[in-house]
Amino acid sequence: MRVAVLRERRAAETRVAATPETVKKLGGLGCTVAVEAGAGLSAGIPDAAFRDAGAEIAADPATALAGAGIVLAVRAPEDAELALIPRGALLIGTLGADAAAAKAYAAAGIDACSMELLPRITRAQSMDVLSSQANLAGYRAVIEAAAEFDRGFPMLMTAAGTIPAANVFVMGAGVAGLQAIATARRLGGRVSATDVRPAAKEEIKSLGASFVGHEDEESKAAQTAGGYARQLSAAFYAKQAEVVAAHIAKQDIVVTTALVQGRKAPTLVTEAMVASMKPGSVIVDIAADAGGNVALTRPGEAVTTPGGVKILGHSNWPGRIAAAASALYARNLLTFLTTFWDKDAKAPKLPEGDDIVKGVALTRAGAVVHPSLASA
Ligand code: NAI
Repeated sequence: MRVAVLRERRAAETRVAATPETVKKLGGLGCTVAVEAGAGLSAGIPDAAFRDAGAEIAADPATALAGAGIVLAVRAPEDAELALIPRGALLIGTLGADAAAAKAYAAAGIDACSMELLPRITRAQSMDVLSSQANLAGYRAVIEAAAEFDRGFPMLMTAAGTIPAANVFVMGAGVAGLQAIATARRLGGRVSATDVRPAAKEEIKSLGASFVGHEDEESKAAQTAGGYARQLSAAFYAKQAEVVAAHIAKQDIVVTTALVQGRKAPTLVTEAMVASMKPGSVIVDIAADAGGNVALTRPGEAVTTPGGVKILGHSNWPGRIAAAASALYARNLLTFLTTFWDKDAKAPKLPEGDDIVKGVALTRAGAVVHPSLASA
């Protein structure tokens, strides 16, 4: 079984879907691995490291993909690469729940699995790309906030006087938010956080941060069976905004991570809230790629408001810590493959009835099979 790993071509994508460690392990499963030249460079992995791990370095996508039965990717391949993937190949990546792309995979006879659709169940944790990448995004966001902040996070008591600790407010305490809280605490910030899911409150407190937020009957049911936040009413968001507005005016750093699955990210920080912050304050919007939690975020950019507040709305936060993100992502994909590996056939075998497979499979044998896309 030949596994192809291409150089990622989408804008701002710095990660790679395999590492020398996973290449070796794929070899152990009986696979040969072809890595496109330069695929790991932006994640700090030179071609020689892949070669030493047993990979063939392919000069271009056509060479890497010739005869491939498995294609590992971070993002969806572009049309030119898609056209080169052999019929019957298994494509694994964060491909999105994109109906048009799924139709194209089906037409090309590619069995595509979109790993961000993985169900949030215990058995799937070690393959959970959303968690592994969000964790690093949360860490990186705080580190970048600290670098942009022109004071410090910890309280500094010096002979020349005392500098107070930074007030850090984390909005959305899922995987990224909890890591942001932990990182800001380690740096010495005075940390508070909010979320709408009731379970998040205890998690926030267990990390030593204080909880800020509105709670009512509606928020008691804010969590879906899958663990995600529900879309809540305009009345709830208005009450939440009232509580948050008073708090934000006193913050030095705000990190926003709030997402509602399948929808644009909710706007949690209004223009007026930004204007209430002191000059030099920093807002990091990890949700920028989903439209942003901050009214003034410009996705993909860093901006400074006339009031001197910096808003970092970079795309692809995990890609800003590309070596670690690639290492974890590549392991997630390897775990998925080894979980569904037929040792005798030395090939992947994805049972149709398995909950994980049902969650991620977009297409199978020329048809779109994902429940959210099949009727599209
Ligand atoms: P996410 O990335 O979809 O959203 C981030 C956070 O934003 C969530 O905590 C969400 O509740 C919050 N949020 C949404 N609207 C908000 C609002 N208006 N104000 C404030 N916060 C808002 O969520 P993520 O990080 O993917 O995690 C969701 C849940 O799934 C968590 O409970 C997590 O522990 C759980 N999980 C379970 C796993 C498993 O059992 N295998 C694996 C990973 C996560």
